[in-house]
Amino acid sequence: TVGKSTNILWHDCPIGKLERQMLLKQKGCVIWITGLSGSGKSTLACALSRELHCRGHLTYILDGDNLRHGLNRDLSFKAEDRAENIRRVGEVANLFADAGVICIASLISPYRRDRDACRALLPESTFVEVFMNVPLEVCEARDPKGLYKLARAGKIKGFTGIDDPYEPPLDCEIVIQLKDGKCPTPKCMAEQVISYLREKGFLL
Ligand code: PPS
Repeated sequence: TVGKSTNILWHDCPIGKLERQMLLKQKGCVIWITGLSGSGKSTLACALSRELHCRGHLTYILDGDNLRHGLNRDLSFKAEDRAENIRRVGEVANLFADAGVICIASLISPYRRDRDACRALLPESTFVEVFMNVPLEVCEARDPKGLYKLARAGKIKGFTGIDDPYEPPLDCEIVIQLKDGKCPTPKCMAEQVISYLREKGFLL
């Protein structure tokens, strides 16, 4: 994209990502959790953060809802604002990953192109996309914040899954599936992600 800044230079620092990763005994990466409202994104983010922390790993959660209280408070839920929301969070997540942190981003991020743009920002293989494959009916039945009810009543316009699109990933690193119609426990979901991180050498 073309920015407005001109005459700017990039400064390198003597301590780089490799040194920070050695110190932290982990590889910086972004775990990007996407899915409908009520699909369990924040539950997984919290469980994953807790489990990794207990094993001595540094994590940081970027939660869509929370960031809309500050950094992204000027953005609506129109497609172009959602794109800007995802772009900003992708940039911030990239900084955390560069700092050596296991950054857990939890946003609906309904458009494939926006998620793919974040993936393209990060060094090869350090963007781990996790899809909460939970059907709309299940999310709507849970309705933890009562938002689906408001959307069905027409009191919220452009609600994802009701009158706004959600594009599931076509090919992502991890899919969280219901088993016998039930969501796996938070710990079980976290273990699935941790196994992947271990297998791919992110946890040193
Ligand atoms: S997005 O699509 O990635 O930009 O959304 P995100 O930043 O993750 O914010 C999602 C939370 O905003 C609340 N909310 C809505 N969600 C979807 N559509 C509409 N119109 C909407 N309005 C408010 C909702 O609480 C979402 O939180 P989660 O945790 O996903 O339930």
